Amino acid sequence: MKIAGISGSLRKQSTHRGILRAVAGHLKTKGVEFVEVEIGDFPLYDQDLNTKGIPSVVQSASDQLASADAIVLASPEYNYSVSGVLKNAIDWFSRVENQAFNGKAVSIMGASPGMGTARSQYHLRQILVFMNAYVVNKPEVMIAQSTGKFNELGDLTDQNTIDFLDKALISLINLSNQLNQ
Ligand SMILES: Cc1cc2nc3c(=O)[nH]c(=O)nc-3n(C[C@H](O)[C@H](O)[C@H](O)COP(=O)(O)O)c2cc1C
Repeated sequence: MKIAGISGSLRKQSTHRGILRAVAGHLKTKGVEFVEVEIGDFPLYDQDLNTKGIPSVVQSASDQLASADAIVLASPEYNYSVSGVLKNAIDWFSRVENQAFNGKAVSIMGASPGMGTARSQYHLRQILVFMNAYVVNKPEVMIAQSTGKFNELGDLTDQNTIDFLDKALISLINLSNQLNQ
């Protein structure tokens, strides 16, 4: 099995990149391959550009996603919704012939100093309906009061949260296996 992850925050010391590192650590112990797919160099979606063809940076990221069995989306909440960079990437992915999210299990994860990205996660679920993805319902990974649960490098340091992520990944793997039966 192979799982791909995307961070909806581009900053180097992002806590969402930290979540993906913790995810990668858990998956390694399960013998599951993990790849982080970068979306930071995607152009802003422009249908005129799209008409000329899918940019190579989008195509290669889409191919990486398509080759995965399941996907983790770790995104901050910006102004009560999905980060613009993640929405931009999904808009591009939705225009690629090989629909990378189609029929796949997806786990949404987020952390914030407040409510743990709860409000944005329901927007993301709605977007993923159109992508025909299957989002894990439980457990929801909403890391609330995140200050103090990550270090200054963005690494997840809170052991309860690290353990909880493992439960979420088991749900993701189970859902992916069910979908592929
Ligand atoms: C433009 C912007 C908008 C934000 N809006 C929200 C918000 O609506 N809700 C919230 O809980 N946090 C909000 N935050 C705070 C982020 O949750 C916090 O910065 C988070 O650590 C970002 O994730 P990162 O560490 O992966 O970059 C916002 C931050 C920025 C920069």
